[in-house]
Amino acid sequence: MTYARIVGTGSYLPENVMTNQDLEKLVDTTDQWIRERTGIERRHISTGETTVDLAEQAARRAIDAAGLSPRDIDLIVFATSTPDKIFPSSACILQARLDIHGCPAFDIQAVCSGFVYALSVADKFIKTGSSKKVLVIGAEVFSKIINWQDRGTCILFGDGAGAVVLEASEETGILSTHIHSDGQYEDLLRVPYGIGDGFDQVRAGKGTVEMKGNEVFKIAVNTLGQIVDETLLANNMTKTDIDWLVPHQANIRIIKATARKLRMSMDQVVVTVNEHGNTSAASIPLALDAAVRDGRIQRDQILLLEAFGGGFTWGSALIRY
Ligand code: COA
Repeated sequence: MTYARIVGTGSYLPENVMTNQDLEKLVDTTDQWIRERTGIERRHISTGETTVDLAEQAARRAIDAAGLSPRDIDLIVFATSTPDKIFPSSACILQARLDIHGCPAFDIQAVCSGFVYALSVADKFIKTGSSKKVLVIGAEVFSKIINWQDRGTCILFGDGAGAVVLEASEETGILSTHIHSDGQYEDLLRVPYGIGDGFDQVRAGKGTVEMKGNEVFKIAVNTLGQIVDETLLANNMTKTDIDWLVPHQANIRIIKATARKLRMSMDQVVVTVNEHGNTSAASIPLALDAAVRDGRIQRDQILLLEAFGGGFTWGSALIRY
């Protein structure tokens, strides 16, 4: 049996940091409110770097960590909701930057679940023998689609990029992936305008995130609880088999609810939301890279990745690292 095994991780954050105190100067909020309701203390905000700029750094680090060169990569799957251009895809722009030619490269748009979706697609390419070494990216500059006058959303998001290299292997790697969506909830979380209206509303400043945070929160907690059960059942595993939870970093209260459901101590949960905010598709690979590089995550451990986001979309991946 062929598995997709993670052989390298990398990440990159823009240098510029925006603290909760900085936000107090922009909107009617407080550091205390943001910490208590979200767990966020600061986030990195691009001062001109694009999604692909961030992704390139993360990708080079992941490829280096894998001991490979860019030319070894035979598929690029790039998750983002904030692509540099309408087209070419961010995957193709990155491919050119990395001087890779000819292999398939495409974007995936599943908002905060984008990385799990991308991992799921890459896993299937490897399992069917179509690809051997896949670069999977999650990268965003969400700061570009935020209404910086809306205190309900502008405090939550940050910019960044994370990447993994997957390699076809006889040793176990990704054990299963599970992805879902339900389009009926668009009104709760969306950027309401774009190409459909010829960008008229975007030009008028309305191309920004709208969210009914409280309602999103409740559905996210329930849905993530269900995906955890689905993932364990599919692998005939129990809660105690999981070594690390590497969750999408939207809100510390959502993360804690999932950890409680798994009866996991917070010591077994990789948390970066305090430092990064919600970086959408980038948040899981950023967290994964942090815990791999600081030695918390060790070979052979079982990792549960899970995410929930706009669409709604949600998903998980169970990995023997
Ligand atoms: N600072 C101070 N007060 C704020 C605020 C801010 N930044 N944002 C909202 N408030 C106020 C609201 O206006 C409201 O005031 P009111 O009671 O006078 O009407 C009050 O705080 C409570 O608002 P509510 O939206 O119910 O707060 P909450 O506890 O649900 O927290 C979120 C808000 C956004 C932090 C929370 O709902 C959340 O994280 N939701 C999930 C978001 C998410 O994960 N989205 C992405 C999915 S990937």
